[in-house]
Amino acid sequence: MAVGIFDSGLGGLTVLDAVVKRLPDVPVVYFGDNANAPYGVRDADDVYNLTTNAVERMWDAGCDLVILACNTASAAALRRMQESWIPPNKRVLGVFVPLIEALTERSWGDNSPPREVEVKHVALFATPATVASRAFQRELAFRAIGVDVEAQACGGVVDAIEDGDMILAEALVRSHVDALKRKMPNPEAAILGCTHYPLMQDVFQDALGPDVKVYSQANLVAESLADYLERHPGMTGPGEESMFLTTGDPRKVSDRATQFLRRKITFQSA
Ligand code: DGL
Repeated sequence: MAVGIFDSGLGGLTVLDAVVKRLPDVPVVYFGDNANAPYGVRDADDVYNLTTNAVERMWDAGCDLVILACNTASAAALRRMQESWIPPNKRVLGVFVPLIEALTERSWGDNSPPREVEVKHVALFATPATVASRAFQRELAFRAIGVDVEAQACGGVVDAIEDGDMILAEALVRSHVDALKRKMPNPEAAILGCTHYPLMQDVFQDALGPDVKVYSQANLVAESLADYLERHPGMTGPGEESMFLTTGDPRKVSDRATQFLRRKITFQSA
């Protein structure tokens, strides 16, 4: 009864951590495509090919449902996968919708027409590919009207985190927040639209100031997965074992993951 969680690298571990806490009895297969990270500077075809390869590997590991815990893959590849690639007995879900539902005060699957919501000025921090896709703005427009979104492409942050260079990551986050504030001086809310960024959430919050509500995806995605599995109990696949797969160097990736999650994580080669 395994569920798959996919990311280009280590960022999806923020989602995995929340899922394991929310659904402790569900085995989870994590796939980090660390050898090919970051995805945020790749074109859509490239992201699609890498993502479909990874998802196939997770099906082989006994998952029928895979969460793309990667905004870049969700933005650049998910719709194409859903239109023509995913077999009828499998599901692949992205990470945008739970976040946007929270921001627009909707419960799961509320498909009523777009309406005014409390928040009016929203800062979006994401990878260059996610920002270029405008997927966040598109999903938001289905649900809310009158929300001004200013997007900041945060080049370099994912690479720094993948390299374990948290000093560089912090400096980059602060300079991206400054750049955003020059365009939108007083955002009310900030979206961390990349699953790597919760690892820097304190720095985002500090740079943005205490009045900005920072939304990150981990708990929201875990909650909506729990809800989904309650309504579709058959979607946990036959896999019975949790495992961590990587296309990168398993020892290096295990060390970083252990450092981030503060518990022993052991990756094996995908
Ligand atoms: N964690 C991925 C995301 O949510 C990072 C993508 C990348 O590899 O650039 O977008």
